[in-house]
Amino acid sequence: MKIGVLGTGAAGQTVAAKFVALGHDVMMGARAADNDKVLGFASRTGGKAGTFADAAAHGDMVFNCTRGDTSLAALSGLSQQLEGKILVDVANPLDFSSGFPPHLTVSNTDSLAEQIQRALPKTFVVKSLNTVNAAVMIEPARVPGRHTVFVSGNDQHSKGKVQDFLRSLGWQSIIDLGDITSARAAEQLLPLWVRLYGVLGTADFNIAVMKP
Ligand SMILES: NC(=O)c1ccc[n+]([C@@H]2O[C@H](COP(=O)([O-])OP(=O)(O)OC[C@H]3O[C@@H](n4cnc5c(N)ncnc54)[C@H](OP(=O)(O)O)[C@@H]3O)[C@@H](O)[C@H]2O)c1
Repeated sequence: MKIGVLGTGAAGQTVAAKFVALGHDVMMGARAADNDKVLGFASRTGGKAGTFADAAAHGDMVFNCTRGDTSLAALSGLSQQLEGKILVDVANPLDFSSGFPPHLTVSNTDSLAEQIQRALPKTFVVKSLNTVNAAVMIEPARVPGRHTVFVSGNDQHSKGKVQDFLRSLGWQSIIDLGDITSARAAEQLLPLWVRLYGVLGTADFNIAVMKP
């Protein structure tokens, strides 16, 4: 599959390298095409490098791995490239400007995923993977047991395709939380995630939803 990865940080690098290893045709995008991190990705993995617009145009499925408090800026202007496509929104709207712990820039009655969906009405936004560390996203077996990843989005077909893709990464417990407004819940897990990270001293953990 052709995949676009918007973002050159730990999340973008980790998922993009894994997607190349799985045989996908991957382009990573940055603000500038000559960004060192995007060029480094291409030379290390054999994947492709470009701008956010190039990567958005390239992918049949596109991953938003941009800094959450800048995602709207990064995605603005990409409505044409992303029209009719699935945008998997991995980003968290965290603001670290006041130190640790970060606070959410949007919550409770709205979410980053909803803001993105409103900005890109012809794109199928699916919130997922934001509740785990990048290494766990692509290798859930780093954490033993059947632990859970969530999907939120308005389009059932798109959520089905994302769930199939998640299974290809090894995810077994996937919960569809509902329409895009349910991304509020997934994003609001982040204050818990950062506290757990502080207490546990590792990012190799996840939440398991258990029922009889
Ligand atoms: N790291 C993880 O394990 C993890 C886990 C779950 C969710 N996430 C989420 O994934 C996203 C990426 O996280 P990260 O740790 O990989 O890296 P990050 O440092 O949060 O984001 C890096 C990306 O954001 C872009 N960016 C920064 N400032 C920008 C601006 N003013 N305008 C437009 N784009 C801007 C950068 O563009 P350039 O490439 O042009 O510099 C870069 O591609 C975040 O939303 C984070 O919450 C991360």
